[in-house]
Amino acid sequence: MTLKWWQKAVFYQIYPRSFADGNGDGIGDFPGITSKLDYLQELGVDAIWLSPHFPSPQYDCGYDVTDYCGVAPEYGTLQDFEVFLQAAHARSIRVILDLVLNHTSHLHPWFLESRASRHNSKRDWYIWRDGKNGGPPNNWSSLFDGSAWEFDAQTGQYYYHHFLKEQPDLNWRNPEVKAAMWEAVRFWLRLGVDGFRLDAIASTFERQDLPDSTSGYDLAQLRALDRAEKPLSRAKIRKLWAKTFEHQFSQPGLHELMKELRLVMDEFPGDRMLVGEDEKIAFHGNGNDELDLVFNFPLMRKIPFRPAAVRRNQAERLSDLAKVNAWPCNTLGNHDTGHYISHFRPEEAQAQARLHTAALLTLRGTPFLYNGDEIGMDHLILERIEDIRDVTANWLYTTDCSLLQLSHEAALAHAVSATRDKGRTPMHWHNAPQGGFCPADIRPWLPVNPNYSQGVNTADQANDPKSLLNFHRRLIQLRRAYPCLADGEQAMLHEHSRHILAFLRWNAGQRVLVTLNFSPQPRRFHWRAAAAAQGGLQDADALPELIFSLSDTGLKQNTLLLAPYDIVLLMLTDGKK
Ligand code: GLC
Ligand code: CA
Repeated sequence: MTLKWWQKAVFYQIYPRSFADGNGDGIGDFPGITSKLDYLQELGVDAIWLSPHFPSPQYDCGYDVTDYCGVAPEYGTLQDFEVFLQAAHARSIRVILDLVLNHTSHLHPWFLESRASRHNSKRDWYIWRDGKNGGPPNNWSSLFDGSAWEFDAQTGQYYYHHFLKEQPDLNWRNPEVKAAMWEAVRFWLRLGVDGFRLDAIASTFERQDLPDSTSGYDLAQLRALDRAEKPLSRAKIRKLWAKTFEHQFSQPGLHELMKELRLVMDEFPGDRMLVGEDEKIAFHGNGNDELDLVFNFPLMRKIPFRPAAVRRNQAERLSDLAKVNAWPCNTLGNHDTGHYISHFRPEEAQAQARLHTAALLTLRGTPFLYNGDEIGMDHLILERIEDIRDVTANWLYTTDCSLLQLSHEAALAHAVSATRDKGRTPMHWHNAPQGGFCPADIRPWLPVNPNYSQGVNTADQANDPKSLLNFHRRLIQLRRAYPCLADGEQAMLHEHSRHILAFLRWNAGQRVLVTLNFSPQPRRFHWRAAAAAQGGLQDADALPELIFSLSDTGLKQNTLLLAPYDIVLLMLTDGKK
């Protein structure tokens, strides 16, 4: 089966502000990223997803853009970007950018014009409405900071913002908005970028007749649900969120818009790709006319994995995708959800990280890694409200103090545990002050997690054959060496097991059996019987080839003796590849 590059690729998300600081000012930048391309090449990744690198006042860490064709000065110049892009391409590493369509910064020249007067030619580029009964046009909440409407005294109207009030929503029903944004898209495609990750697409349109939400909950009340004495189940809470925002998400027009964007992509040679920050399979359109990938967030929400939950997810997801012939895409986390290792109990975190990574890199679909996860970076709980950069947490802190009348300590504890900053701290390169991210005497934009000195850094792990970093390298190499792990079919085996996740991946020439023991106990696994259900080994006496074994497992004629948390890959093909 011939796959497109983005079906075979291992993607790696770079959060530019935190990745590598080339000029020593405490902020990551393009010269820094370029200097780490050898590291990424050794890791074995094929593509980079770059979180926003555009000029921005950073109310939402770059997801509030003031110039879609520029580079944030603190990250370098457009030329620095081009040097980076060429250097990446020279190493056969593709680059996709983050495209923020829903909103701009409130300081974007378009919005400055739009808010200047009711008659400005760009007035209709954003969503302006009159208030109602002395208040906003309706009761909609923003996802980030209270009401979705902000009053602008100068022109006496409200503007709509799905996220921060510093992120006014564009009016995508206005053709001029589309034309302007597609020009920005073409600008980067002409420079040679390989595609885009589409930010927050579901919120692009909202209902035009603005009916009130009838969920009975606003943002503050939804946020408080997590902390209720008798908390509702995660699923119920998600339902209430969905109900509250029902008129603000997934509205008609979205798929037509994605089709238009696809046509813009297709004006350019090569397989330029689109991955949406969404999980809905509808974004694949007919399989060919919208997005190439959407994330399997349902699987991510299952961390820590239980084998049965992974099997259920795969059964549902793969069969839904197959209906439109679309390709799966898995991830364990990103700059919003943070470092997934923090989900595990400390005593088993290292072992669980290996199991989850092995699943990510061997299940069918394109894997996305988040920078720092490959060395086991985890969450840093900030100590002071002044250290918080993620403005959404500031809103939590303020509403906790004012609305819920919580003490400073309680509000702070909530804000620092909820802020997305905890998973965005600078990358650790060495066991050196500031983790080698920036000079010792410079204050980085977010504090560095002190655990860089306990082996959580790339240099120490590169030298340790048993490190998590080298585990990632080996697994990524295996994906290359055994293409069926990328292009093969997949079937779950041993489906009653509570502890073992076992599945076959195969193509015309290869069959690989992946076995993951999620339990802290040793287990015996009858690999031959399990594999027989899917064709197994043709020669009943032949032994498979052990292509990966975390703990030098005993491979017997019919069984595997799995150590606690063991990972074993067997090549079942008779004879050599
Ligand atoms: C996406 C981004 C997130 C950002 C939001 C608004 O969800 O991943 O970081 O805050 O969109 O742009
Ligand atoms: Ca810098």
